[in-house]
Amino acid sequence: MVSLSSPETGEPSPEAFGRPQPAPQVAFGQYPPARRTLLHLSDTHLLAANRALGGRFDTAANLNRTLEAAEATGIRPDAIIFTGDLTDLGEPDAYLALREAVEPVAARLGAPIVWVAGNHDERTALRRDLLGLEPTEEPVTGVWDLGGLRVIALDSTVPGWHHGDLDAAQLAWLGEILATPAPLGTVLAMHHPPLPSHVPLFDILELRDQGRLAAVIAGTDVRAILAGHLHYSTSGMFAGVPVSVAAATCYTMDLARPAAEVNGMDAGQSFHLVHVYDETITHAVVPVVDAQTGDYFSAEWVERMSRLTPEERLEEFSRKRP
Ligand SMILES: [Fe+2]
Ligand SMILES: [Fe+2]
Repeated sequence: MVSLSSPETGEPSPEAFGRPQPAPQVAFGQYPPARRTLLHLSDTHLLAANRALGGRFDTAANLNRTLEAAEATGIRPDAIIFTGDLTDLGEPDAYLALREAVEPVAARLGAPIVWVAGNHDERTALRRDLLGLEPTEEPVTGVWDLGGLRVIALDSTVPGWHHGDLDAAQLAWLGEILATPAPLGTVLAMHHPPLPSHVPLFDILELRDQGRLAAVIAGTDVRAILAGHLHYSTSGMFAGVPVSVAAATCYTMDLARPAAEVNGMDAGQSFHLVHVYDETITHAVVPVVDAQTGDYFSAEWVERMSRLTPEERLEEFSRKRP
């Protein structure tokens, strides 16, 4: 088992990743600003030479569009997490293309990238061409310390198959890490979600023997599980832990159909903004769309509100006016 971890040495400053200090966040409500922020993307499915996926989806263009949208948020995330199916066929050139697309964005944002393996990936090529590691069939796992928030990447893939599983060795490794809590808790990132799906095809490709994972995380500091694989956003609870599935950047499942007839469409791509608070973690779905918006709210508006007392703000913005 190889760990891609950075040493867990306590709280790094934002400068540790060479990024600018984010603008001070305002808190108009009862919650202090989020402690950590993550970008959660999934299922990029790149192909070598940018061949069209299924003859119809331009996965590179759709990834770039999603990255532009993520960057347009102005957020300086603590990590960018990709929950698997990074390439469609595990081709070396597809991993290189992925690096070329994502690494400059991560450098500009000053954020580490967490790559998670999916069933469409191949461990040897992923290790060699994306991570610069020995090309072995060992599970691709890692641990990151994001200033006290621990992120653990699991490898739920089964070489030669599309369904998911976690073998005893990986679960034992996970259990050993979780034996020591992290200051801000732990987020697991894995490809196959430990959730049911109403779409029949995904039951065949599910994570098997989920009870074994439940037993390992029960009573630990795991606060969220990030996953992909389904190509649609969904959420649920697993062993008392919220699970958040990000849709894909390449194509998404058109759920506005009978479950047996759900197929992919070149629309509905999105990514998730994950905000880690002391009391909870939120997962906002951000659609990647070209649409006109209003222009009422602005930095100036927030600045004006920040100069008011809480009572004045309520009068100004909450009071219903006839
Ligand atoms: Fe996928
Ligand atoms: Fe998948």
